[in-house]
Amino acid sequence: MKESQPKAIFLKDYQAPDYWIDKTNLVFDLHEDYALVTSTLHIRQNEQGEGHPDLVLSGVDMELVSVAIDGRKLAEDEFREGQSELVIPIDRDQFILEVKNRIKPQENTSLEGLYKSNGMFCTQCEAEGFRKITYYLDRPDVMSTFSTQIIADKARYPVLLANGNDVERGELDNGRHWVKWEDPFKKPSYLFALVAGDLESIEDRYTTMSGREVTLRIFTESHNIHKCDHAMVSLKKSMKWDEEVYGREYDLDIFMIVAVDHFNMGAMENKGLNIFNSSCVLASPETATDARYQRIEAIVAHEYFHNWSGNRVTCRDWFQLSLKEGFTVFRDSEFSADMNSRGVKRIEDVAMLRTAQFAEDAGPMSHPVRPESYIEISNFYTVTVYEKGAEVVRMIHSLLGEKDFRKGSDLYFKRHDGQAVTCEDFVKAMEDASGKDLSQFRLWYSQSGTPVLHVSDAYDKASGTYSLTIEQSCPATPGQENKAPFHIPVKLALLDNSGKALSLNEHGDVEQVLDVKQAKETFLFNNLPEKPLPSLLRGFSAPVRLEYAYSKDDLVFLMQHDSDSFNRWDACQRLAMAEINQLVAALARGESKEPDQQLIDAFGHVLADSTLDMAVKTEMLTLPFEAAIAEQSESIQPGLIHKARKQVKQAIAAAHQSQFHQLWKELSQEKPYRPEARDIAERTLKNICLGYMVALNHKEMMDLAKEQYDRSGNMTDRFAALSYVVNAEYQDKPSIDALLSDFLNRYQDDANVMDQWFSVQAGSPQMGTLSHVQSLMEHKLFDATSPNKLRALVGAFAQNMAGFHDSEGEGYQFLADLVIEYDCKNPQLASRLLQPLTRWKKYEPQSRELMKKALESISKVPELSTDVFEVVNKSL
Ligand code: TRP
Ligand code: ZN
Repeated sequence: MKESQPKAIFLKDYQAPDYWIDKTNLVFDLHEDYALVTSTLHIRQNEQGEGHPDLVLSGVDMELVSVAIDGRKLAEDEFREGQSELVIPIDRDQFILEVKNRIKPQENTSLEGLYKSNGMFCTQCEAEGFRKITYYLDRPDVMSTFSTQIIADKARYPVLLANGNDVERGELDNGRHWVKWEDPFKKPSYLFALVAGDLESIEDRYTTMSGREVTLRIFTESHNIHKCDHAMVSLKKSMKWDEEVYGREYDLDIFMIVAVDHFNMGAMENKGLNIFNSSCVLASPETATDARYQRIEAIVAHEYFHNWSGNRVTCRDWFQLSLKEGFTVFRDSEFSADMNSRGVKRIEDVAMLRTAQFAEDAGPMSHPVRPESYIEISNFYTVTVYEKGAEVVRMIHSLLGEKDFRKGSDLYFKRHDGQAVTCEDFVKAMEDASGKDLSQFRLWYSQSGTPVLHVSDAYDKASGTYSLTIEQSCPATPGQENKAPFHIPVKLALLDNSGKALSLNEHGDVEQVLDVKQAKETFLFNNLPEKPLPSLLRGFSAPVRLEYAYSKDDLVFLMQHDSDSFNRWDACQRLAMAEINQLVAALARGESKEPDQQLIDAFGHVLADSTLDMAVKTEMLTLPFEAAIAEQSESIQPGLIHKARKQVKQAIAAAHQSQFHQLWKELSQEKPYRPEARDIAERTLKNICLGYMVALNHKEMMDLAKEQYDRSGNMTDRFAALSYVVNAEYQDKPSIDALLSDFLNRYQDDANVMDQWFSVQAGSPQMGTLSHVQSLMEHKLFDATSPNKLRALVGAFAQNMAGFHDSEGEGYQFLADLVIEYDCKNPQLASRLLQPLTRWKKYEPQSRELMKKALESISKVPELSTDVFEVVNKSL
């Protein structure tokens, strides 16, 4: 809860801390109605600090029991307790502070600090959750070693975990026991973790490249213990990959992962004790889809990689969040590319960036990769900081090349091991190691907004000269009217009329990276016998919007010939997007228009192309998602977008009906489930075919989908079938209900699968109505304290173009009321649920006004959290 009017914090005001904490000893006495925390801190004045005589510790939602300095208990007038701080005047350079305080984990619904999930105790401290545990210098540049003793009832909490290595344990009277953990590595408080519960674990071992033996353990409630193997395999792959690609090995004797059901985000990289949302750990072929398997692999890797990019080298302040997140997302996405299909991974990442990040950057919360100010830091765990931040690191990688980038990362880790540093330190290490000048490149960290590249070309037959003129601009964003030109790496190739890439220099290179640095620049290519077709921004070499006047013929040509699989896919997306936009426009005029034959034929070509990598083919056959279409619309017409896309899908389905059916049959051979790239590509392609078949709206096709549902032994195929049936325009209510209740009966004991069951209904254009969503909230398996359940049901509904926007604004007000209700319980979650409403300015006039009204109803609530306050106020 906010104190008064929440205030912004600025990067420019950063000051080094006045005190350091060298050692932190914590004792947790855990009880059912409270927890007693005893914190003993070895504190020393910072010579480089401002020299303030007061020690100011952060702490919220707690009851102070006692304060002592160097063994002497302080009287009440020797310290001051504020709403969110403890102020102690200090008269010495070095001292030991002992604070005792009580907290109430069982009443903590914010899922920050120490809380309970399904009867187990767990913690979440990033970014500022540690201050809900005890009074502390809760900022990432204060790094300390920690020892943690946990005391709890042995029968209820047989497993007691914290960071580091367990060094001692013992039994107490009346059934209590204790364990003491020591973490020798200095860390900021946000990496602290504690778990106490009745958990089972699976165990494995890993020998690092220097021969150290590490114990690996994954903990979960006993009924899920058979679903941890994939996470374990992923962990070992990650450990190996980080040794091979970055020369980084693990540094403690044990690495633990704990799965919990109640969690605000995906997972958390606490030193030696990662805590995960159970949805990002648990998988079995019968309960998890391919997408889930891949997500688990990526998140296990992401959190593991943080051990170096985040923990050993951490952030000086939260404005530098992308230092660890952008770099770590880049690392995990390269890992996933190496483990699976590189081409598909790139396509998926860019599709996400373009829909979610471009939209964020065009909206009211637009901020640079390194923000300049915030009211609530939890609001800045964004696609900009994470995904655009990763794109910025990727550009450095492509500007320096593999070898110099590795030199740069080696230097960065060596120079800053054990330190809390800035994005500038990262760039400097890259510069120093490579000798490359990144001064203009740094603007990617400070300027927000998505740059637009406008490309035009000309060819002079007589001289054989081809010229490309590139103009860059960047729209104004909050607080940033004018932007200086970015340094943009534009990777390109020039294709001749047979589709072959022409050589661009005497070495015969067919690909080149242009360093675009000016507002307008022309690049010349000589000795070309004919006008080439440019393949621009290959592999999406920079996070920009590319404008070039490709004709339909050009796009069809690129779809068939471009050797860059990303651009091949992109040509397909551009062609489909243009067509869908035309249909939307026609529908808006009340006209009917047949989808373009050239597009339909081009899709037929992709379907029949046997030279095309199967995984890339699946991506090309996927029409742009509704959110992607919305993102590039001037004035979003949700209902029409849904209709137009469906119309194109149906036209493609009708034209190639027998091919889809044939391919689906061929790929429907039952075989044992393996979550491997090839098999995943086969299942994806099979299910895409089924999706087109169901789009035809015939009973026979629905029956085939139901048949696949019944026959499938794995969740990927079963859920795909269920989802197509539930989403189909052809509504056979009794059999849809039968399928949904069959699914419910089979999986009701699995919370993560039930999330999917809620989500598929809320996202369906037919079923996902407000009244149905409201009735699902009353369902006995709906857990209103679980962020996963809320996201599954309400989050999915808010993304449902047909359901959410179709009404007199009732969906909007429903969401607003829910945000108000949850703001008192879990502000981080409330602030995230609220996001869809913040895009109101992008919608057609009627939705726009109603969305705004819903937002205003939130802003009128007197005691909003800083989380919701910031988002609502910035977006109105
Ligand atoms: N640092 C985590 C990651 O990216 C994410 C994270 C930040 C988080 N704050 C959180 C997770 C709060 C859960 C709850 O890996
Ligand atoms: Zn992270």
